[in-house]
Amino acid sequence: MSGINGKTAPDDSTAIDEKGIFQEADVTGSEIRYINRSMCIVGLDYVGLPLAVEFGKKMQVTGYDISKERIKQLKEGHDYTGEVSDSELRMVKIDFTFDPSAISKSNFVIVAVPTPIDEGKKPDLNILKKAAETVDRNLSKGSIIVFESTVYPRVTEDICVPIIEWESGFQYMKDFKVGYPPERINPGDKEHTITGIVKVVSGCDEDSLETIVEVYGSIIKAGVYKAPSIKVAEAAKVIENIQRDINIALMNELKMIFDKIGIETEEVLKAAKTKWNFLNFHPGLVGGHCISVDPYYLAHMATAAGHYPEMILAGRWINDEMAGYGTSRIIKDMIRNDLPIKGARVLVLGAAFKPDVKDLRNSKVEDSVSIRENSCLAIRG
Ligand SMILES: NC(=O)c1ccc[n+]([C@@H]2O[C@H](COP(=O)([O-])OP(=O)(O)OC[C@H]3O[C@@H](n4cnc5c(N)ncnc54)[C@H](O)[C@@H]3O)[C@@H](O)[C@H]2O)c1
Repeated sequence: MSGINGKTAPDDSTAIDEKGIFQEADVTGSEIRYINRSMCIVGLDYVGLPLAVEFGKKMQVTGYDISKERIKQLKEGHDYTGEVSDSELRMVKIDFTFDPSAISKSNFVIVAVPTPIDEGKKPDLNILKKAAETVDRNLSKGSIIVFESTVYPRVTEDICVPIIEWESGFQYMKDFKVGYPPERINPGDKEHTITGIVKVVSGCDEDSLETIVEVYGSIIKAGVYKAPSIKVAEAAKVIENIQRDINIALMNELKMIFDKIGIETEEVLKAAKTKWNFLNFHPGLVGGHCISVDPYYLAHMATAAGHYPEMILAGRWINDEMAGYGTSRIIKDMIRNDLPIKGARVLVLGAAFKPDVKDLRNSKVEDSVSIRENSCLAIRG
């Protein structure tokens, strides 16, 4: 099998374990051997920055972000997300810039920009499209562009590729190639960090896939898994979060049932999980910009393909209702305990969408607080 530069890739028959995970032991921890690629990461926040730092330990990396403020902070050696420590950030060699022309110095481009939903809960691909346009205007021939942003199947090839072809005049597969190695990090989680999570990778052809395997294999200690196509990798990423969403929704529904009949849900779960195959999920608020957003991406695609995704949307609906449910339970408990509602003071502990993160965006705690404010309760946080 030959790499993108026609050089020989490692014989993969020796390196694949029983789960199909490609363990490039001879590449992990070493310098990238047979490709001579310079890298640019587009979008430097929760996903892009930790990647830039890991790659920066191996090679010269350019980090481009549209936000001048973010670039200023990073140049000063500080990451406000707390995902990368200041000392680690200062140790690596990354050229941080808000000048998009810097992209042209690289021939391996990683795009890690947000993929939110709009007010109607439909995928909002505008930021991704804008980033693809920027890459397109600053692309050098022979580049591989990979997308780490979460999308629905076919976005990379049907939406991003035509944008990249448009202004550059470059021809897909001949002048540039693409891949999709989705990010799976869990911000705030110090155990499952970027290098310790198996990386699913995909490429538009064998050559690009081999290069992508080698590039990521150089930093991912847990190994890389080669998905057979870009659309398989896109689908695999989005369903990881959908599965969590549905499982939490089930727990939330069980909680509502058990509350009605006066059973403590946590006690039920403790008893049930003594069975070996009972899954360890708990009721709670589902916020953030992954689990509470990604199901709408697949739902959108499913509907367009003629399938109404009943279960996926039911899970979303239940989880979105939980802030209101929690508030109504507090008010009922206060009434039951003869506590005055009007003017009552409520202390809210925690504001982010999950423990140990600083990210307040899309936190359902914010929904709970606004519902409580509308209920005449005074909130302190
Ligand atoms: N945060 C997570 O836990 C997580 C985990 C896995 C996957 N993802 C996915 O990865 C993607 C990125 O997530 P994130 O949490 O890092 O997003 P984010 O919103 O935290 O940050 C994205 C960064 O991209 C920059 N940006 C926006 N438009 C740009 C452009 N045109 N050019 C250059 N930079 C631009 C922003 O200034 C920001 O610094 C999303 O698709 C998300 O769903 C996120």
